[in-house]
Amino acid sequence: MSVVQSETEAIDWYEGQERFLTKQYIDTIPWNDVGRHPFDEAFLPVLVYMRDVEKFTEIYYQELMKTPTGNDPIIRRFMDKWATEEAVHGDLLNRFLEEANYPTDEKWFEKAKARIPKFQRVSSAFSTATARLTGKHFSAVHMTWGAINEFSTLTGYRTLWEKANHPVLTYLLKAIAREEAVHSFFYWTIARLKLQTSQFRQRMTRYIIQKFWTPVGQGLKREHETNYVIRALFSGEEGVAVMRDFVNSKVEQLPGLEGIHTVTERIRKVVLT
Ligand SMILES: [Fe+2]
Ligand SMILES: [Fe+2]
Repeated sequence: MSVVQSETEAIDWYEGQERFLTKQYIDTIPWNDVGRHPFDEAFLPVLVYMRDVEKFTEIYYQELMKTPTGNDPIIRRFMDKWATEEAVHGDLLNRFLEEANYPTDEKWFEKAKARIPKFQRVSSAFSTATARLTGKHFSAVHMTWGAINEFSTLTGYRTLWEKANHPVLTYLLKAIAREEAVHSFFYWTIARLKLQTSQFRQRMTRYIIQKFWTPVGQGLKREHETNYVIRALFSGEEGVAVMRDFVNSKVEQLPGLEGIHTVTERIRKVVLT
């Protein structure tokens, strides 16, 4: 689509998007075929991580509602639809795990929540307080951070289906990825619009991303779990280049974030040291 000029235009575009994962589409997923194709067990922890992080959107949503970002009417409209889409992704990934005979039970989400490190609760209270202090300016940080998360998720799914080479997983992840691409574009667009109006926001966002950014899910999951996913998907110089080209380069295009290398450097540190 052409360059979006306003936040209203962006939300109208997003709300006009039909879900790819409609009931009709979900009914076409050949679950019975999951066990008929080999699945490399090295990717099981990756899928568990992705499933949990998708469902943890609910927690992130609650946190954001405590900040001025949650009062931004356009972001609020976005988040109400977005959160329901992410939850479906989590449920579908769980269904795949079940079909692949990975031990999962009805209480998997409660159990995953119970494993959230205590430190996360402290640090999220801290970031909520910071966001309140800087008021609506902090939304530029939230939107930039969200854009990085969504582009990372999209890139992670694409890499996973290429590496795992399992036809049912590919079928499922391609549909999820269509929705992640829509989310990425929305977050990125709102971040761009919010950043371009204020040098203060640009400087604050640049500082916070450089100083505090961690990969999607880290904090809610433990660092060694995040690093496992990064190594499984983005090993070697080749993997670093994928994250540079599909995630970091998008961040660099945002106003005031030119020349930022935070994402690439973090991936490089995990896979090459
Ligand atoms: Fe998702
Ligand atoms: Fe998403």
